[in-house]
Amino acid sequence: MSQPGTEVPVYDIVGVGFGPSNLALAIALTEHNQNAEQPVTAQFLERQPQFGWHRGMLIDDATMQVSFLKDLVTMRNPASTFSFLCYLQERGRLVDFINHKNLFPLRIEFHDYFEWAAAQVDDLVAYDKEVVSIKPVLRGEEVQYFDVEERAGQVFRARNLVLGTGLRPRLPEGVVRDDHVWHNSELLARVGSVQDPKRFVVVGAGQSGAEVTAFLHERFPQAEVCAVFSRYGYSPSDDSSFANRIFDPAAVDEFYAAPEDVKQRLIGYHANTNYSVVDIDLIDELYRREYREKVRGVRRLRLFNVSRPARVVRTESGVQATVESLTTGERTVLDADVVVYATGYLPADPAGQLGEVARYCLSDEQGRLRVDRDYRVWTVPALRGGIYLQGGTEHTHGITSSLLSNTAVRVGEILQSIVARRANEPAGQPELVISGVRSE
Ligand SMILES: Cc1cc2nc3c(=O)[nH]c(=O)nc-3n(C[C@H](O)[C@H](O)[C@H](O)COP(=O)(O)OP(=O)(O)OC[C@H]3O[C@@H](n4cnc5c(N)ncnc54)[C@H](O)[C@@H]3O)c2cc1C
Ligand SMILES: NC(=O)c1ccc[n+]([C@@H]2O[C@H](COP(=O)([O-])OP(=O)(O)OC[C@H]3O[C@@H](n4cnc5c(N)ncnc54)[C@H](OP(=O)(O)O)[C@@H]3O)[C@@H](O)[C@H]2O)c1
Repeated sequence: MSQPGTEVPVYDIVGVGFGPSNLALAIALTEHNQNAEQPVTAQFLERQPQFGWHRGMLIDDATMQVSFLKDLVTMRNPASTFSFLCYLQERGRLVDFINHKNLFPLRIEFHDYFEWAAAQVDDLVAYDKEVVSIKPVLRGEEVQYFDVEERAGQVFRARNLVLGTGLRPRLPEGVVRDDHVWHNSELLARVGSVQDPKRFVVVGAGQSGAEVTAFLHERFPQAEVCAVFSRYGYSPSDDSSFANRIFDPAAVDEFYAAPEDVKQRLIGYHANTNYSVVDIDLIDELYRREYREKVRGVRRLRLFNVSRPARVVRTESGVQATVESLTTGERTVLDADVVVYATGYLPADPAGQLGEVARYCLSDEQGRLRVDRDYRVWTVPALRGGIYLQGGTEHTHGITSSLLSNTAVRVGEILQSIVARRANEPAGQPELVISGVRSE
């Protein structure tokens, strides 16, 4: 804990959040330090008690939406020992995986890969540390460092911040989560508490909505599952080869340099590589199930397309959802045990997380943070340190911002920027700062 008069070590990097993005950075700097004259010092802070990647959606048969070659390292360093292939080798499954002829591992397998990698950089991360404030450390008019405080009051001092706090569940306005109203991110944490359900309502037609619908339909063979969404039908994600180039490292360069209207157009053209879309195999599986039920005359997978949940109210034993057809206005009242909102995610708001430091940051005319190509937030000159964003940069760097596709390359770029800026710092700066005032 930082008390007045106590000496606080200064890290080159304090990373907030330890999902795949900052895990990949921890690996990149570990590899960098192996040959560096001056190692990069870092401390990552994660609020979860242990490593976890969207645990609430670790459905047994769900697969990755990205090639295993876009793991934590390969696109940056194909010779890295932190690759998915090295993981497979250690787990004794390399040959089996090759025979599988499959680019898209199970999500539970990739989770295990992430945990395997995280365990190797355990010295760099502290779990159970939720960052609650970030404060500037001033020397005169200049912001010299950042003080990052976690919930229990411990403070970590940084020359550079890397925010990798991921996504937040998005719920329609006014919806409050409880035992009967969930966001899909809580699915596996909550599903065990459901006893003898009669009906579920699932809102949304993205990958999450389709996965939750299929999962509940299989898990509860006596229950009806009603999927409610505004589209005509589930639509496939475009993972064709040319469109997939939107995830290339070069596409980040092109997107970054493009005028604003072209950026908007690109996001519009290629939103269907990621948003409100579903893996084609899962669409086929859901269609097969619905058709089978039509043949058998026993319907419990019900699709309410071109529809919206007009009213959702809690009842004594569950929820009552009134579903309205957007074409006819016809309303259907559904008494359900649970409504699951699979209504997507929003990036964490970096400006909110930066607290007092946010006033040193520059925004564009739409109030969004200005970010350099190296993912460093534009700041006033009085702020000497670097604030880097992993996520929340779709407006500047494009659609890979919240995804794994470019993570390995992005962390290499961030690390390179931090190392280069350190090399350009004036020599002879004392290392220790005493309670916000540099010791001379
Ligand atoms: C169910 C699901 C499946 C997905 N599958 C894929 C896929 O197959 N391919 C793909 O490319 N993308 C996928 N995505 C997109 C997803 O955003 C990325 O896979 C990935 O999670 C991004 O990593 P991240 O580290 O940036 O964010 P996250 O994984 O969200 O990690 C952020 C971390 O920060 C921590 N944190 C947040 N706030 C604080 C705080 N104040 N203090 C301390 N810690 C904090 C969180 O606990 C979390 O561990 C998926 C998303 C979901 C929801
Ligand atoms: N297996 C996996 O790897 C996996 C699993 C789950 C998720 N993911 C990833 O996670 C990311 C998010 O996917 P997602 O499915 O969670 O979210 P999403 O793609 O953003 O889809 C959200 C869905 O909710 C609907 N919606 C949003 N707000 C609504 C509202 N107020 N009322 C009614 N409907 C509303 C949207 O409708 P519209 O159609 O009108 O937009 C859309 O159908 C994607 O990158 C996806 O690939 C991956």
